[in-house]
Amino acid sequence: MCGIVGYIGHRNAVDILIDGLSKLEYRGYDSAGIALYIAGDLEVYKYKGRLQNLADKVEPLQLSANIGIGHTRWATHGEPSDVNAHPHISYQGKVAIIHNGIIENYAQLKDWLIDEHGIEFQSETDTEVIAHLIEVFYEDDLLDAVNRAVRRMEGAYAIGVIAQEEPDTMIAVRKDSPLIVGVGDNENFIASDIPAILNYTRDVLLIENDEVVVLTKDEVQIYDSLGQEIERDIYQVTWDAAAAEKEGYAHFTMKEIHEQPKGLHDTLHRRIDAEGNFKFEHIALDKAMLEKFNRIYIVACGTAYHAGLVGKRAIEKLAGIPVIVDIASEFRYSEPFVDDKTLFIAVSQSGETLDTLQSLRYAKQLGARILSIVNVVGSSVARDSDDIFYTWAGPEIGVASTKAFTTQLMAFYMLALHLAKIKGSMKDEEYNQWIEKLATMEQLAADTLTIDAQIQKIAAEQFNNESIFFMGRGLDVDIAFESSLKLKELSYINSLAIAAGELKHGTIALIQEGTVVIALATQAHLYEKMVSNIREVKARGAYVVAIAQEGNRAIEDVADDVIYIGACDNLLTPLISVIPMQYFAYYVALQRGNDVDKPRNLAKSVTVE
Ligand code: AGP
Repeated sequence: MCGIVGYIGHRNAVDILIDGLSKLEYRGYDSAGIALYIAGDLEVYKYKGRLQNLADKVEPLQLSANIGIGHTRWATHGEPSDVNAHPHISYQGKVAIIHNGIIENYAQLKDWLIDEHGIEFQSETDTEVIAHLIEVFYEDDLLDAVNRAVRRMEGAYAIGVIAQEEPDTMIAVRKDSPLIVGVGDNENFIASDIPAILNYTRDVLLIENDEVVVLTKDEVQIYDSLGQEIERDIYQVTWDAAAAEKEGYAHFTMKEIHEQPKGLHDTLHRRIDAEGNFKFEHIALDKAMLEKFNRIYIVACGTAYHAGLVGKRAIEKLAGIPVIVDIASEFRYSEPFVDDKTLFIAVSQSGETLDTLQSLRYAKQLGARILSIVNVVGSSVARDSDDIFYTWAGPEIGVASTKAFTTQLMAFYMLALHLAKIKGSMKDEEYNQWIEKLATMEQLAADTLTIDAQIQKIAAEQFNNESIFFMGRGLDVDIAFESSLKLKELSYINSLAIAAGELKHGTIALIQEGTVVIALATQAHLYEKMVSNIREVKARGAYVVAIAQEGNRAIEDVADDVIYIGACDNLLTPLISVIPMQYFAYYVALQRGNDVDKPRNLAKSVTVE
């Protein structure tokens, strides 16, 4: 997810582009750039780092142009760097482009451009192929060249194009990535999202999929996929920019909770090839390597560590390899059984958490092979790894990790299947069945998002408690820990998570009249055990909210309230059972008047020990 913006008109494009990008940084902030038409040439200014870095570099140059395009990046292909930043310019400098999305067939297009046209590529990005393709097809008609290039591209893209030989025209195309046009007086704009142009106009054209837009300073023409020009009514924007960045949600945390189905989709489907097998661009593990390993270590912090707990169960169940999970701040000061027969898996949303990074480097010293599950492309953890599984959750702004967690879970399920496949320990039929099951989880997650009203009601009843317990068995213990962490970091309520079987060994002493216990009972083979644990705390006066799979009505006899999630394979319930728990923490925090996106005492990435 990146942010794109474009301007054509009577004013200086530089300030408008940078201002527009500043409203899109929530979409990506690892590098930024602009391309301008100045005195017969296309000039590109692009730098790694936050937008301010770009602004500081171009401001003293006093640049002036009436047409330009700008981009703020969230890397997917190619680490954040000056050369991988956008805009990208074509091989003879005739075309400059910006892009949000992923070109799925970029490798084939790149080979064709190199073999057939001898083009030298500058960057590691998928995007650069677009600039070269358009120039290859350019015959004094930019629209035609863009259409011919688009016909060769597969994937998702919102692109903006300017050309050296047509300085009065800007072209934009939309396919499965957001694109809007801002209509002004003697000027027009393109952008990924409305906030980028709200300072200049409230007249917007919403561009549909497979539409191509040709903009001059006085006119906007929209063409459908058949090249027919179409009319589109202006949409008058009435709300403010800040609200828009959250796409209408009150907080980034709630927006990101709702982005989980898409995160699961992108993380899974972009890695299934035509034969239905997983293909991992940055994982080179093979059978020989795997046979050398006698153990797997998973090391991380906070929510990522909780994903590791689920990952352990998935790898042990599906690939039959023993796994040790440890918190990073303990791992690196312990004497772990790590050597060159160890596969070390680091998990991190930010990829910059120091304890995880240092643990990774320590394991490397001990000879381990490093695989990391990371959300930020090109982050330190990714750079120091031998193999990388990028979770495609997009930028996570809320401090409380939500969508990164569920994409980390998806990554572990996929990795476990991949290891089983490499080992040859799983038949193709079972492998394919698991992939089908994983593919159903996106919809089940979307269904689970529809129960927020019920959770809001429970939160409104319980937000005044100063201690809340979570309990479960098996996989539900791992989600009990994650749920308790979410509640702690958002509501500041003292919360404890416990393996339900441990209750009678001490913790039950804390249970008294009115104590709130949230009991996760999604594991069919442990269901009866959980029902008796619920009876135990009920007998001491607890108020019990149970989480169960659709169809387990019996639990209504023992619990005070039941939250149902869709029925699925026991191993996969964490992908959806955590969602009502994220909602609960969110609504309790709201009731207590907390700053949900920036909770006290916490940082999004902990870069100190
Ligand atoms: C989770 O909501 C917290 N923000 C925190 O526990 C976080 O998971 C932990 O700091 C690890 O961060 P990372 O995934 O970026 O490494």
